[in-house]
Amino acid sequence: MRVVLGPMEGVLDHLMRQILTEINDYDLCVTEFVRVVDQLLPDHVFHRLCPELLQGSQTVPGVPVHVQLLGQDPNWMAENAIKAAELGARGVDLNFGCPARLVNKSKGGAALLQHPALIHNIVKACRDAVPSNIPVTAKIRLGWENPDDCFEIVDAIQSAGANELTVHARTKQGGYKASEIKWEYITQIRERFSIPLIANGEIWSYKDGQRCIETTGVDSLMVCRGAFNIPNLGNIVKYNHQPMPWSEVVDLLIYYSQFEMKGDKGLYYPNRVKQWFSYLRQAYPEANELFREIRIFNNAAPIVEHIQHYRDRLHSSVNCTA
Ligand SMILES: Cc1cc2nc3c(=O)[nH]c(=O)nc-3n(C[C@H](O)[C@H](O)[C@H](O)COP(=O)(O)O)c2cc1C
Repeated sequence: MRVVLGPMEGVLDHLMRQILTEINDYDLCVTEFVRVVDQLLPDHVFHRLCPELLQGSQTVPGVPVHVQLLGQDPNWMAENAIKAAELGARGVDLNFGCPARLVNKSKGGAALLQHPALIHNIVKACRDAVPSNIPVTAKIRLGWENPDDCFEIVDAIQSAGANELTVHARTKQGGYKASEIKWEYITQIRERFSIPLIANGEIWSYKDGQRCIETTGVDSLMVCRGAFNIPNLGNIVKYNHQPMPWSEVVDLLIYYSQFEMKGDKGLYYPNRVKQWFSYLRQAYPEANELFREIRIFNNAAPIVEHIQHYRDRLHSSVNCTA
């Protein structure tokens, strides 16, 4: 089984990729998107979103990282795919699933699901442009509104020569509603097409992963939001590990504070750690108490201090009961 740590714009940056690949056996990561409009982007844009390019396009623990491109112009997408490859990307992933209104208004992301011929042209332009040893992959939702549109979309992508396809089994209109997940469409896609697939959407546990594999017949899974709710979700899904205990999550929050962002104005850690709490609170009720303590602070030092005190209290209460 393969488990992929999927792309999450504004959430899953290189530091989180490093932390999550240190504690999980992920097979692949995908960057946040490089937004392509009507120009060849300079190197620093790629390096900012994917600093791993400077270390062989892999995280510090050695997990390959693919560069994600989002755009609607086949020629500019191809030019930037070439650039990603020249900078050392181990793969180029094309985003046809982003539901953000601004992106969709300019016909990018999920809006393209309404235009399979254009999707075909983008994938083909990129596949033709990038050396054949570098995979060009795509990620889609089932359609804009109607999940039955997925077959035409997959046909467009397969016939353009993409190497692999991730299917987030909801339409754009389905948003992120759990009730809108339709893994059975992935089953049908697998039966009708030969392109290798990665199944994505609503995998929060080992059981979910097993159910997804049984339903779809696809044994490559992608996890996204759940990977933030439970930091060792990759190993839970792959090896049936127990969820990481809360005390270890607290240690991880402190570990995270030791990373420094280049050019950071001191806001990176406070903002990101609060964002992480919004995920952790879904899985760890204990996170609420700690979040209440730290949410008023806008710089790293008092947040880390509070978390350290909290950890000391936690460890001493664990020792007392032991
Ligand atoms: C905050 C956030 C950012 C996302 N950014 C991207 C993105 O840049 N590219 C993409 O293809 N999908 C993106 N997605 C969709 C996820 O990759 C994934 O398909 C979706 O969350 C379903 O998987 P999950 O149920 O495991 O979270 C994003 C989702 C979230 C919640």
